[in-house]
Formats: sequence, C-alpha cells, structure tokens
Amino acid sequence: MYVCICNAYRDAEIREAARTGLRCAHKAYAALGGEPRCGRCLPAAQELIDREHDAPGALAAPVVEPPGARAG
Ligand code: FES
Repeated sequence: MYVCICNAYRDAEIREAARTGLRCAHKAYAALGGEPRCGRCLPAAQELIDREHDAPGALAAPVVEPPGARAG
C-alpha cells in the first residue's frame, strides 16, 4: 500500500527503513532518497515506524552489559 503518494513510498519500504534503526519519518524518507513534499503522509509514516519499533522481535537498542556481568 502506498503511504506517500508524492514519493511513491510503500509501507514496506518505510517499515524496512525503520528496521535499520531510524525512528523519524523525515530520516526514513531521506534514507529512501527523498524528502516529504506535501507532508500529508507523515503522521501515517511515523505511526508505521513507531509500530515497527514496538513490534515483538523488533530491533532494540544494543544491549550494553556492565563490566563483569558475563564473568564466570
Ligand atoms: S504524500 Fe508524502 S509528501 Fe505528499
């Protein structure tokens, strides 16, 4: 389904950009090689990105273990 008519971005492309760690629709569009034009799609695009990050199994921020946590 097309989310952004101006740039012909589909939901799958926006979700894929989100899976690279991008959390902002503007940055996702930049990663896809464009930028918002009319801006009418931004709320829907941002919701897709937010859902992608909230989904079970979504890439989380890297886990940083405290020093010595894996000792033993
Ligand atoms: S529909 Fe996305 S910028 Fe216009």
